[in-house]
Amino acid sequence: MKTAIITGALGQDGSFLAEHLLGLNHKVYGIARRKSTDADSWGLLEHLKENKNFKLVHGDITDPIFMSNLISDIKPTKLFNLGAQSHVAYSFQNPYTTFETDACAVVHMLSALQKHSPATRFYQASTSELFGGINCPITGYSETSPFHPRSPYGVAKLAAHWATINFREAYGMFSCAGILFNHESERRGLDFVTRKVTNGVARIKAGLETKIIMGNVDAYRDWGYAKDYVKMMNLMLEADEPQEYVIATGKAYSIKDLLELSFSLVGINNWEDYVEFDERFMRPSEVPYLLGDPTKAGAELGWVPETSFEELIKIMLSSDLKRYGI
Ligand code: NAP
Ligand code: GDD
Repeated sequence: MKTAIITGALGQDGSFLAEHLLGLNHKVYGIARRKSTDADSWGLLEHLKENKNFKLVHGDITDPIFMSNLISDIKPTKLFNLGAQSHVAYSFQNPYTTFETDACAVVHMLSALQKHSPATRFYQASTSELFGGINCPITGYSETSPFHPRSPYGVAKLAAHWATINFREAYGMFSCAGILFNHESERRGLDFVTRKVTNGVARIKAGLETKIIMGNVDAYRDWGYAKDYVKMMNLMLEADEPQEYVIATGKAYSIKDLLELSFSLVGINNWEDYVEFDERFMRPSEVPYLLGDPTKAGAELGWVPETSFEELIKIMLSSDLKRYGI
């Protein structure tokens, strides 16, 4: 039986990946920080409490002692590092801790693997934020496009990206990074833009709110469904060679498109009347346009995105409407 450690297991991607790997008959160790006010909470993975192939382990990935002990005890077949401070705007206010979690912890992890479990295959959650969104090629960013991160989050993730490649080149480890473009779901945190909008629209429909307060609605993103994307993470660790891959849909939409679609799905065609601007949601340096080119993933690993932007927003919106009894 293959064993996998997933850091960030109670986050959006970690929870989908845990379910995916259990379906592929893996023994899964999910790592999550203990919550002081609710130490028994399994959050998004409450339904796995009785699953004998899933074990929730409390720990912080920035603690090198915790991570070294974990790796040397389990010596997993695969380690998926999805744990991160993942909010771009927040990283401007907390750049130092973002760097500790998103960069330093990755170097510790790779070093612990090299020492205690060099045969483990390592996946690093890299991001389209590495590209920066200025001068995006017409065909989208690919694995060979230059990097230009525009936030403390992007800078930290770039350090982790190169550390992953460096451990592979220096020590022959099977370590690789997936460069994933934005992916969303009904499990997305409420302060990321897609979920903020679908949840906001559902609250307006339920009569609980009259407005959504937004930042820059002119940015473009290449949005896919998280459930499709976690499959690619595992395909990368099952491949013959460790390599980087761009994972994206190849289609970009603006935040205005997102607002228009979400409101129209509940029968509101004048979305501008329900949206207000607030400076506090603007970022000191924005990533204006992200479009990915997933050709290599399709050609080499047979991965293709299965869910369109419209289907994704319908899934998210119907889940949020249901939460408010609509
Ligand atoms: P997410 O929902 O924010 O999940 C991240 C998880 O990491 C959270 O459960 C968080 O736990 C945990 N975490 C944070 N700091 C930690 C620490 N010091 N020790 C242990 N756990 C810690 O993010 P996601 O959307 O699933 O993304 C997964 C990964 O992919 C992240 O590395 C993200 O940066 C990257 N990524 C995401 C996207 C995307 O569009 N979703 C695109 C490219 C890359 P708490 O709740 O305790 O904070
Ligand atoms: N969060 C948020 N809230 N974003 C807003 C808002 C708002 O009120 N108004 C406009 N936006 C714009 C942001 O300025 C940005 O251009 C875009 O919406 C998307 O913001 P987020 O949903 O917060 O995602 P992100 O693109 O910054 O980062 C996500 O995707 C990255 C991959 O490209 C995160 O999941 C990162 O962890 C991930 O690496």
